[in-house]
Amino acid sequence: MAVLFGGQSPEHTVSRASAAGVLAHLDRARYEVRPVEITPAGRWLVYADGGATPGAACPAERPAGSPGGTLAEIAAALAGVDVVFPVLHGSAGEDGTVQGLLETIGLPYVGCGVAASAVGLDKAVTKAVLQACGLRIAPGVTLSPDRPAPDRAERARLGLPVFVKPARAGSSIGVSRVTDEADLPAAVARARAVDGTVLVEAAVPGREVDVGLLQHPDGEVVAGPPLEIVLPDGDFFDGAHKYASARPPFRVPAALDQVTTALLQERARQVFTALGGHGLMRVDFFVRPGEEPVVNEVNTMPGMTASSQYPQMWAAAGLSYRAVLDVLVATAWS
Ligand code: DAL
Ligand code: MG
Repeated sequence: MAVLFGGQSPEHTVSRASAAGVLAHLDRARYEVRPVEITPAGRWLVYADGGATPGAACPAERPAGSPGGTLAEIAAALAGVDVVFPVLHGSAGEDGTVQGLLETIGLPYVGCGVAASAVGLDKAVTKAVLQACGLRIAPGVTLSPDRPAPDRAERARLGLPVFVKPARAGSSIGVSRVTDEADLPAAVARARAVDGTVLVEAAVPGREVDVGLLQHPDGEVVAGPPLEIVLPDGDFFDGAHKYASARPPFRVPAALDQVTTALLQERARQVFTALGGHGLMRVDFFVRPGEEPVVNEVNTMPGMTASSQYPQMWAAAGLSYRAVLDVLVATAWS
């Protein structure tokens, strides 16, 4: 199995951390593992398997070399491989591009296919698809690259605060919470530095609750126990919370009644189906009692450090990280 990590997106470092989690939990009695780094410049570098020592598989020092992944490097990295685990976040990896390469050469891989990955990484397209399928999404405006700002009527409709996000990114990179309209242009510029297309969304009141989906080899898509992100009012789950704190602020299972839990799990499965998902997905919601949940976004390759939401949800359901990986790999073959 080749485990791809790193990648050319701004989430390179996050992917390394996720891959360290995957590499530490893959069952070496079952799989012969080949860690492959895609460098920020697009080279494909093969590492010796570090076994249970992810640090050894993810060296901080990257060999210097010419930019641009070459076909020969990719062929060498994937030679003799039966299945690929693309532990990549963001553009050029979680967006269907690497998946398309693997489809073209006929290698099975873990996770969503080309279309679901491409749609899932683009928050604007995700929202359009989900809305068309009758799911509730946050009110917002999509600024195409030639539109500098929402107009007056749109700003009045959205109110404050708003969240400003690059359409195609993750890990809160380029995301701002804007409470003063005077700060909007700078927030749009920050998001636009990551992606030309930018979303300006109304802040949705409610608790932030994530649901993980795991597809089994027989095709059944199982929703895990909802996980709540518990933060003080006015704060949001940004990069600092995601990666700088040793203990992320999660409550799993979330303190929700059975009806709300079942509704969220059903909506998460509907999202998976609407996007044509495969293997896994994490669907993030805003939840208010008695109301239809609002889908915030999806992640087709959610964060996979041992303390990330996805492994934590399954641990709460009694499924170890290793067992989750076994299901994912088995489903990749199916
Ligand atoms: N995009 C990151 C990895 C996440 O949402 O988990
Ligand atoms: Mg995300």
